Amino acid sequence: MQAAITASEVCHTYEARDRRLHALINVSLEVGRGSFVSLIGPSGCGKTTLLRALGGLLEPTSGRVEINGRPPSEALRRKAVGFVFQDASLLPWRNVFGNVRLSLELNGGSRDDDILKVNQVLEAVELEKFQDFYPHELSGGMRQRVAMARAMVTDPEVLLMDEPFGALDEITRASMMYELLDLWERSPKTVLFVTHGITEAVLLSDRVLVMSSQPGTIIDDFSIDLPRPRLEAQERSEQFLDYTFRIKNALREGAVGAQVS
Ligand SMILES: Nc1ncnc2c1ncn2[C@@H]1O[C@H](COP(=O)(O)OP(=O)(O)OP(=O)(O)O)[C@@H](O)[C@H]1O
Ligand SMILES: [Mg+2]
Repeated sequence: MQAAITASEVCHTYEARDRRLHALINVSLEVGRGSFVSLIGPSGCGKTTLLRALGGLLEPTSGRVEINGRPPSEALRRKAVGFVFQDASLLPWRNVFGNVRLSLELNGGSRDDDILKVNQVLEAVELEKFQDFYPHELSGGMRQRVAMARAMVTDPEVLLMDEPFGALDEITRASMMYELLDLWERSPKTVLFVTHGITEAVLLSDRVLVMSSQPGTIIDDFSIDLPRPRLEAQERSEQFLDYTFRIKNALREGAVGAQVS
């Protein structure tokens, strides 16, 4: 399978207040086109840093990253990459509709076409009734769903998602998870999905990558060989529980103290 996302020996060191913080060390990965890969690791291990490097928002200190074999800046320009950030980062002066539509505005599509697309994604994230609300009038979880809609509206080839369900309650989280699965199964794109949820990672993914804590690097790579479409009942299967158990152990082994020099 051709790789849609590639990282080779990526290292990143932040320099802050005379200290150097080694956030990433020798991260190499390949995500096959059309696959769904989760990235899981302790808080502060460098997941957001890695995602930003892969999406061309941060120049890593060393190493190489590519989207479809080209520099990520190119993919960013073509709107071939969609981001869902950890904090929804919506424009406060635009309502829900306006925030989602923003992604389409520079594309030069027709007005009717844009309206149709925005309505479709708002329906997918169950916010069609809130399209004239402003970010401050929404809950944290709703803002996050707007951010998901905004990332999906351009139908990007690659979706980089940073804990998109972190702020949601259990029930909404589960329903969004299945909604995302459904969307992905209908229109497969390459997804790299950062999460703290092991069950979520197993349920959604073809592969789960486990990162160690600082400096962050990938210490394990699990292929999730469960049939699709994934159904809720699978969560109770022996095979599913075995994956969650093994990933939990890998996480435990990778959780060591932070280093600052
Ligand atoms: N702009 C920055 N300047 C200095 N240090 C930073 C900066 N951004 C992140 N870091 C540091 O890099 C490390 C990795 O941060 P990062 O946000 O990538 O972690 P994370 O895995 O996404 O954590 P979480 O699960 O809590 O979101 C942390 O120790 C953090 O303090
Ligand atoms: Mg993060």
